Amino acid sequence: MKVRKAVFPVAGLGTRFLPATKASPKEMLTVVDKPVIQYVVEEAYDSGIRQMIFVTGRTKRAIEDHFDLNFELENELEVKSKKELLGVVRRIKPDDMSCFFVRQEKPLGLGHAVGCAREIIGKEPFAVLLPDDLMVNDIPVTSQLIDIYDKNDASVIGVQEVPLDQVERYGIVQIDDHKRITGIVEKPKANEAKSNLAVSGRYIFTAEIFDALSEVTPGALGEIQLTDAIQILLKSQDAYVKKFEGKRYDCGDKLGYLKANVELGLQHDELGSEFKDWLEKIKI
Ligand code: G1P
Repeated sequence: MKVRKAVFPVAGLGTRFLPATKASPKEMLTVVDKPVIQYVVEEAYDSGIRQMIFVTGRTKRAIEDHFDLNFELENELEVKSKKELLGVVRRIKPDDMSCFFVRQEKPLGLGHAVGCAREIIGKEPFAVLLPDDLMVNDIPVTSQLIDIYDKNDASVIGVQEVPLDQVERYGIVQIDDHKRITGIVEKPKANEAKSNLAVSGRYIFTAEIFDALSEVTPGALGEIQLTDAIQILLKSQDAYVKKFEGKRYDCGDKLGYLKANVELGLQHDELGSEFKDWLEKIKI
């Protein structure tokens, strides 16, 4: 079965980014000139996915508005013949893309958020993209995972190697020689981690993950962890890792976000070369 749907858990409070996120969704923070969530939705679209499911919460209205038609704005740009800007606005939600919004009523964790999409997903495989993780690569990371899903007909998790002193920030997987996952633990201590392969915010799941999620009890931080559901899924199905090609920026973290702005600013068609000259001038 083809991967046609993607889930974006966007209900988180973004406390790591206060004060910026007191009244605005962290997913709407801009990297250069686009909100973080738009980059991630574009990654899913460029991977062939057309149905986007946002698991939202209170204070996240701006995300719905961003992917909705803004009739007054489009009308104004049309009347003033601002064709280029009109194109920019229309490309946010191409005509063949559908958006669905479902509320996560209580902040019970990432696993719970993904579970909120169960009825919209039904019985098909789907992608999960965590908007904190901004991925940059010519071949979108989600499409790299879909290739592995298509080969094995089994769940796939995007991973990257991280320094041992950072394993505490991630889900950490163990694998066998066939890149099959043999175990997964959420945020282990460095001295307890069985590897340095970190889950990096991109997943393809078979629909059976929902049964696994319904068995999960609150784990690390008192939350329903997606990682714990994956561990349960392994009892009945294989799941694989993909060490993806590409660069990952942690946009849920102030420093990662700044790095994303600088690097993508340098690559920007209109601004890149002037920005580079300026950076060279202020270099300490
Ligand atoms: C989540 C997942 C974790 C994963 C990480 C990647 O953690 O629970 O397994 O490694 O995203 O960004 P969070 O960053 O939400 O604490």
